[in-house]
Amino acid sequence: MDYSKLKVPNHVAIIVDGNGRWATERGMTRSEGHKEGFLNIKKLSAYIFSKNIKYLSAYLFSTENFKRSKQEVSFLMNLLVGQLKEILEFCHENKIKAIFSGRKENLSAMVLKAMEKIENETKKYNKTFNICFNYGGHAEIIDATKKIVEEVKQGHLDINDLDENTFNKYLYHDLPPVDLMIRTSGEQRLSNFMLWQNSYAEFYFPKTYFPDFNEKEFDKAILEYTKRDRRFGGIDYEKTNN
Ligand code: IPE
Ligand code: IPE
Ligand code: MG
Repeated sequence: MDYSKLKVPNHVAIIVDGNGRWATERGMTRSEGHKEGFLNIKKLSAYIFSKNIKYLSAYLFSTENFKRSKQEVSFLMNLLVGQLKEILEFCHENKIKAIFSGRKENLSAMVLKAMEKIENETKKYNKTFNICFNYGGHAEIIDATKKIVEEVKQGHLDINDLDENTFNKYLYHDLPPVDLMIRTSGEQRLSNFMLWQNSYAEFYFPKTYFPDFNEKEFDKAILEYTKRDRRFGGIDYEKTNN
């Protein structure tokens, strides 16, 4: 679809959901669903970044996902590890800066090293792919608060200077607000995803499971987004009688 005449969102966030059900309904294992989901992230993000969209955040593993079986958790960890080299290649090819959001605890030294390498090598690019892994919205806000308290204690920050812009700088990354938040698979909840950044996002909940959420489906989301009236608490009085 041609996006050139559309007012596209600056920051799109996707909760990648439904990989397991996609696989179960096909008589496949949940792991196969996760593999298919990863393949789709690559295809879809290349499409999204080929449009005039500057930030994409993808929720791939939550702090709560550790509640899943050991087998599923380690499959998801290994899937990410196995993809890190490809993520780096993908970022160079598409000139995308990759950043990771989430707690470092519970991630192996090897994963952390690979993440750091990707972040360093792709720093120079303008479009940002924010990969949320071992991420939780509550955890992010708590971690930011701890950093702020430490800064105040050290005398580097005056508590009276703490406003929304300053707070944003203490999050995992200083990102702009999310404009369009998509959750696939029909679930209609945030599941602890970017609570701070999603405060005024437009939400879109397609029924499609993530592995089937293709370019056409994304176009539909964008068209729906362009119809939304974003008021941010204000009123357009020209559209009223007073
Ligand atoms: C993938 O979808 C997202 C992850 C948490 C890895 P799910 O694994 O949640 O799939 P469903 O919701 O069980 O179908
Ligand atoms: C949210 O999906 C987490 C990710 C997509 C990474 P879940 O499938 O874990 O969420 P719930 O359990 O349905 O709320
Ligand atoms: Mg799910």
